[in-house]
Amino acid sequence: MENLIATKSGSLTDSRRKFLEKAGVSVVLGTIGAAFFSSCSPTEGADPNIPNPSGGSSSGIVFSGNTISIDLSIQSRLKTSGNWLLIENARTLVVNVNGSYTALDSVCTHQGCATNWTFSVDRFTCACHGSQFDPSGRVLNGPAMSPLTQYSTQVNGNKLTITR
Ligand code: FES
Repeated sequence: MENLIATKSGSLTDSRRKFLEKAGVSVVLGTIGAAFFSSCSPTEGADPNIPNPSGGSSSGIVFSGNTISIDLSIQSRLKTSGNWLLIENARTLVVNVNGSYTALDSVCTHQGCATNWTFSVDRFTCACHGSQFDPSGRVLNGPAMSPLTQYSTQVNGNKLTITR
C-alpha cells in the first residue's frame, strides 16, 4: 500500500535549499490522490525542483513495509552528487555522494529530532543541537554519541530502493 510522503530536499549549490530550511518548509506529496502541505503554502517557499509541489499524484516516492522506492526520473535532483532528501514520513535521509546513494535513519541519536536536517559538503547537521554525521551515519561532532542507522540502497535503472 502506498503512503503519503513528506520530503525536504537540498543541494550544495542550490541557495533555495537554505531559504527552504529557514522557512521550515515541509512539503507533503501524495501518492494516493489527496495531498497537502504540512507547513508553508507553495507560495511561501515551494521549491520548483520538487516534483509536483502542488500535491499531485506522483512524487516518485513510495514506501511499503520496510522498503522505500524512489523514481529517479522524477526525483531527478538526487542524480546529482551533493543533493539529498528527507523523507519525513519514512524517517529517512538519502543523499548522493559522488554517485553513490546512502540512506540513514533521520531520527537523531542525540535527542530524537527527526526533521531539522541540513547537508553540506560531507556531513548532515541536526539543527536541534548541532550534531554532525558523515554520509555513512558516523558521528563527526556531538553532542550525539551514537551513529545514525544506515540502510541498504540499491539502484536499478531509475529506481532507487532503500530497505530499512
Ligand atoms: Fe540532534 Fe540534539 S537531537 S543534536
